[in-house]
Amino acid sequence: MKKIIKIVLIALVIGLIAAQFIRPNFSNPPVAAGQTVEESAGVPPDVQMVLSRSCNDCHSNKTIYPWYSRITPFNWFLADHIDEGRREVNFSEWGTYSNKKKAHKLDEICEKVEDGSMPLPSYLWIHRDAGLNADQKKVLCDWAKAEKAKIPVEP
Ligand code: HEC
Repeated sequence: MKKIIKIVLIALVIGLIAAQFIRPNFSNPPVAAGQTVEESAGVPPDVQMVLSRSCNDCHSNKTIYPWYSRITPFNWFLADHIDEGRREVNFSEWGTYSNKKKAHKLDEICEKVEDGSMPLPSYLWIHRDAGLNADQKKVLCDWAKAEKAKIPVEP
């Protein structure tokens, strides 16, 4: 019996070591010149701070990968959030969005931070300083509303 447990444990360890060679591609896509939210919209420094600290790891092409991003299986979990996050909103490609899409995303930004669903709660387990207090939420929401007001209404 003891021998079986030992064999199973060794197999598990070997499996885990082998799995370390199966990693997602973590190279950041290039940031398109002129298309970032900073270049294509107005982003004051206080808003910039919130975006950089709490959103850009999943919603831009400037992701900073944490140490555990080198460990399988955590890296797959991360890759999934980053892919999905970028697909939803990518602040590095903001300028490529239509006015309609920008307006919709700006509404969503305010909504998601106010209801606490963004930044993703699982992100905050490790990035404890990325949580937003009431003031920071207000800074982001006020900005989103002001940006939306600048978008010409489609006839
Ligand atoms: C750990 C990665 C991660 C972080 C950090 C993060 N997001 Fe997200 N975000 C996602 C994922 C994944 C989705 C898509 C799934 C979902 O909506 O829950 C998403 C969806 C969204 C959407 C939804 C868009 C729509 O049209 O429904 C908005 C808006 C958004 N995020 C804004 C933000 C803002 C603002 C921040 C920073 C305050 C932020 N996110 C931080 C991963 C992240």
